[in-house]
Amino acid sequence: MSFKTILVAGASRGIGLAVAEHLVSQSDRLLAVSRTAAPIDEWIQADLSELTGVETVAKAVGDDRLDALLYMGGTWETHAFTNLHSLIVASHLC
Ligand SMILES: NC(=O)c1ccc[n+]([C@@H]2O[C@H](COP(=O)([O-])OP(=O)(O)OC[C@H]3O[C@@H](n4cnc5c(N)ncnc54)[C@H](OP(=O)(O)O)[C@@H]3O)[C@@H](O)[C@H]2O)c1
Repeated sequence: MSFKTILVAGASRGIGLAVAEHLVSQSDRLLAVSRTAAPIDEWIQADLSELTGVETVAKAVGDDRLDALLYMGGTWETHAFTNLHSLIVASHLC
């Protein structure tokens, strides 16, 4: 599969970085978005929880058409899997 332009949000580490590194050689242009640096040529520093961050990304994309937008940004909530918040406890509440 080959893409022209791909944007990966959350590309500094984790799932997003793995996806970006996999796809960078299969696209003409891969834009990597995150707050801290991503080891990808076209890294865009932006906080996507802020309007200014979204505007920064839109400006970087410019007139290019995105063929794929992969949104991997987010927070891995480890506390969601403690006994207090487990799915088993939640199911008892239903
Ligand atoms: N790992 C799993 O097994 C798993 C399973 C199910 C769902 N998920 C979900 O999938 C998502 C990614 O998981 P992950 O394990 O790859 O997480 P991760 O290693 O913490 O990576 C999160 C990525 O999101 C970016 N990010 C976070 N807030 C951002 C913001 N405000 N603006 C721009 N970029 C932002 C981070 O970059 P910066 O900090 O540099 O901005 C980072 O690149 C999370 O939402 C997680 O809850 C993960």
